[in-house]
Amino acid sequence: MPLDPHNKPLRRVRVELGPRSYEAIVGSGLFARVGEHVRATLGSASKHAAIVADSSLPAELVDSAGASLRRSGFLVSTVQLDAAERNKSVREAERICTHMASARMERQDPVIAIGGGIVGDVAGFAASMYRRGVPVIQCPTTLLAMVDASIGGKTGANLEVPNADGTTSLLKNLVGAFHQPSLVLADVACLGSLPIRHLRAGMAECLKHALIARDVEQSGTHETDLFQQTTDIAHSLTEPDKGAMIDLIARNLAVKARVVESDEHERSTAEVGGRAILNLGHTFAHAIETLSNLSPDGDPSNCPLHHGEAVGLGLVAAAHAAAKLGTLDQRDASRIRGAVAALGLPDRIAGLPDNQSLLARMHHDKKVSAGRLRLILPHGLGHARSHFDPPVPVIEAGWNAVRA
Ligand code: GLY
Repeated sequence: MPLDPHNKPLRRVRVELGPRSYEAIVGSGLFARVGEHVRATLGSASKHAAIVADSSLPAELVDSAGASLRRSGFLVSTVQLDAAERNKSVREAERICTHMASARMERQDPVIAIGGGIVGDVAGFAASMYRRGVPVIQCPTTLLAMVDASIGGKTGANLEVPNADGTTSLLKNLVGAFHQPSLVLADVACLGSLPIRHLRAGMAECLKHALIARDVEQSGTHETDLFQQTTDIAHSLTEPDKGAMIDLIARNLAVKARVVESDEHERSTAEVGGRAILNLGHTFAHAIETLSNLSPDGDPSNCPLHHGEAVGLGLVAAAHAAAKLGTLDQRDASRIRGAVAALGLPDRIAGLPDNQSLLARMHHDKKVSAGRLRLILPHGLGHARSHFDPPVPVIEAGWNAVRA
């Protein structure tokens, strides 16, 4: 594996998007040198940096990033964000913009987002709006954000929308912008303090990438199939090998990068390819992740499901729906279930609503367009396709497969 100037393993993944191209760098201890990386990326015109940090992160982590930026000549100010779904809001994005304005930040001055997906999305959204767009550097601290949210330029917030009956609904990611980062720094040192439940949840997105990798990776580029590499790491998740983790994250970033390059703004409606393929397992997952009664292990104190846990169940459901449709062998559907279980994620869940309610919830998902439900289903292990309005028994086969 290539080494950085301090002899630590480092991987670089290029995201090729013409004038919006950038690099994702994966390594250990990167945050202590964030200033050097940001300076090398943005050049000398940037004077001020606004760190937007998850308020629950260890202070020394954020302080070392701030110190590194100062050593590289930046004036640094920090905004703390309580990374809760209710704070993934236009109000918080505005607060960040106001902070930047009072610090007199200019067009070339970056936002440095340090945290999980919520922080990255809100900070990125603020960066997309402030002075009609300033650079954002994504520094994800969770596995989920490293392999998914930090790369690809989706930013945004939820919106509280009134219903006719006087109640309100929190509509997730309803507002936002595509705003590609200028740089992504994934520091695996952050994973050491991540609770195991979060690490497992992040692995669900890795497994999703493994299930589309053969559509995306050039054959012969890697010794090991990504599905194998993902399940191999399952056994050492409590004490993962740093080098193996860096490799896995970089490979996942590369899979996502290739998909984003092919359809940056998710406009493709083709059955083959397009960014929508990244929603494999997600239409099932979105239908259940906001249900407050679901627990990954039956313990009510662990309700609700984490996004990655719902995605793991969604992958099992999609696999069995595909087996019903005939696009995946039953044996491969069982292998996918086995991989989810090996990662320590639930592959069945108690307390699901009936199939009719679940179907209705799927139809409310924002991925439904022009009244058509678009479901991504595996076509053999490593390939996936879009299916528009698949037969109801196919979707029901998916739900039945995850019902405990
Ligand atoms: N998380 C799916 C995407 O970035 O398109």
